[in-house]
Amino acid sequence: MNITNNTILITGGGSGIGLEIAKALSPSNKIIIVGRNKEKLDAAAKDLENVFTIQADITNESDVNRLFEEVKTTFGGLNILINNAGNAYVYNIANDGNAHNKALAEFTTNYFAPIRLSEKFLPLLKEQNEAAIVNVSSIVGFVPGSHLPTYSDSKAALHSHTQLLRYELAKDTNVKVFELMPPLVATDFSAEIGGKENGIPASDVANDLVKGLQENIYEIRVGNTEVVYNNFFAGTQGAFATFNN
Ligand SMILES: NC(=O)c1ccc[n+]([C@@H]2O[C@H](COP(=O)([O-])OP(=O)(O)OC[C@H]3O[C@@H](n4cnc5c(N)ncnc54)[C@H](OP(=O)(O)O)[C@@H]3O)[C@@H](O)[C@H]2O)c1
Repeated sequence: MNITNNTILITGGGSGIGLEIAKALSPSNKIIIVGRNKEKLDAAAKDLENVFTIQADITNESDVNRLFEEVKTTFGGLNILINNAGNAYVYNIANDGNAHNKALAEFTTNYFAPIRLSEKFLPLLKEQNEAAIVNVSSIVGFVPGSHLPTYSDSKAALHSHTQLLRYELAKDTNVKVFELMPPLVATDFSAEIGGKENGIPASDVANDLVKGLQENIYEIRVGNTEVVYNNFFAGTQGAFATFNN
């Protein structure tokens, strides 16, 4: 798809992968970065051309309604929605004792919020000649990571949702649905599991997204995700053992 002259909203665009996507797609697009922390957003946007900020918690319905109204009135439309903001707990499912509450919080951010945002913004996206939704899932959406049990569940649910949304919207709309599947990436998000030392740069993920959008690659399996994905289809047990060793 065309990746210039669009209006693009990135949830979690104030840091990590979202911010690198904002950098990669500006200045030839209008970029709106969204997060809960206004100061963080403003600092991220300060030196970037065509990057605008809107403070909102994507898990809060009234914030999402306000975000929608602000995008509609200030920007007059939207071409690309990037559901990137995420939440994860690192723990052991066998002995944590609080897995239910952690799963609820993870699913609220990683699964329910993208569904609400996509549903809310679809009317604006459908007005465009060409538009897209990008859901940022994860390598652990295919094969669960032992240290990220219910986060893995939430990304598997997002993967399933993304497949069907793509299929249905392709029937009679111009809205393309992409899934960006990063491996371990060096951001604050993954610091607890060694991402700062062992993760790939967030800019690599952003570059793969740009290429994927341009070439209409709907499942963008970044770096090691491709290997794990192929192992998964070669045999689930093998992929599980390889990934969790
Ligand atoms: N890093 C990895 O190894 C890795 C691997 C695979 C997939 N991913 C996925 O990639 C995405 C981006 O992660 P990242 O590594 O770039 O993490 P990050 O640097 O921590 O960025 C996450 C962003 O999401 C925002 N956010 C979190 N909850 C929010 C909410 N309720 N409402 C609005 N904004 C919210 C945060 O800003 P505020 O705190 O200001 O709200 C933050 O800017 C996530 O979906 C993550 O699951 C990451």
